[in-house]
Amino acid sequence: DCPSLTLIPVIDSTNQYMLDRIGQLPKGAVCVAEYQQAGRGRRGRQWLSPFGSNLYLSMYWRLDAGVAAAMGLSLVVGLAVAKTLQKLGAAEIKVKWPNDLYFQDKKLAGILVEMSGKAGDAAHLVIGMGLNLTMANTDTDTVGQPWSNLAEACEPMPDRNQLAAAIIDGVTETLRRYEEVGMAGFVDEWDQYDNFLGRPVKLLIGDKVVRGIARGINAQGALMLDTEQGKIPYLGGEISLRKD
Ligand code: ATP
Ligand code: BTN
Repeated sequence: DCPSLTLIPVIDSTNQYMLDRIGQLPKGAVCVAEYQQAGRGRRGRQWLSPFGSNLYLSMYWRLDAGVAAAMGLSLVVGLAVAKTLQKLGAAEIKVKWPNDLYFQDKKLAGILVEMSGKAGDAAHLVIGMGLNLTMANTDTDTVGQPWSNLAEACEPMPDRNQLAAAIIDGVTETLRRYEEVGMAGFVDEWDQYDNFLGRPVKLLIGDKVVRGIARGINAQGALMLDTEQGKIPYLGGEISLRKD
């Protein structure tokens, strides 16, 4: 069996490491790396992972309720990380549906949930978190969008070990609560941290663009959008939310 905490200096992707070991991992097992050669985001996009200056962490989790319950996972994990950072002294950390953390309208962290497990069975999930701590010398063009790091949001910076431990604790506690109460138990909290609540946004759905005012999420974790056609819920992985 794999240990519950694995520390690796250089790896392709902590998510891949955990996916390769599903079945041997205790629930809540964590892998942390210093550098990822092939850090990834959603839909095969790259996650920049320079050495030593950020946090790259993946956790294994099993949901007995199956894959349908996994839909809201990136939302509640994002909330858990935002709350943890705030507890450690960071200012105004926000969440962006469905899988990002923002500071001052810039991307601070991303969450990537990957799974193996068929419908009906328990869902075996790897929850990856990439959090910029002191990343520097990376221009916006290389990242592809405005980005931030915790050093901008937090003075003094928390100790890196304590930060990792607090995130592991906070996420574990949130996942246990999610198993009990489901997404509905997090809707109000989401509003408090939502970077786009009440703001004009556009959704990119394939080559379609939908515009409206963001109205938080519903009990299924769908993004609620006020459009010319009325209030519409959007759920699913192929949607990108942008400031309009
Ligand atoms: P969405 O999830 O809404 O589609 P997104 O453009 O942020 O939005 P993701 O797949 O979530 O897409 O994240 C990957 C993107 O994050 C990359 O394409 C890049 O723009 C950005 N990115 C990559 N590395 C970092 C990093 N270390 N810090 C901040 N942003 C990064
Ligand atoms: C996103 O914004 O699309 C999610 C980015 C997730 C990055 C983290 S870093 C640790 C884990 N390993 C990976 O390869 N990706 C996630």
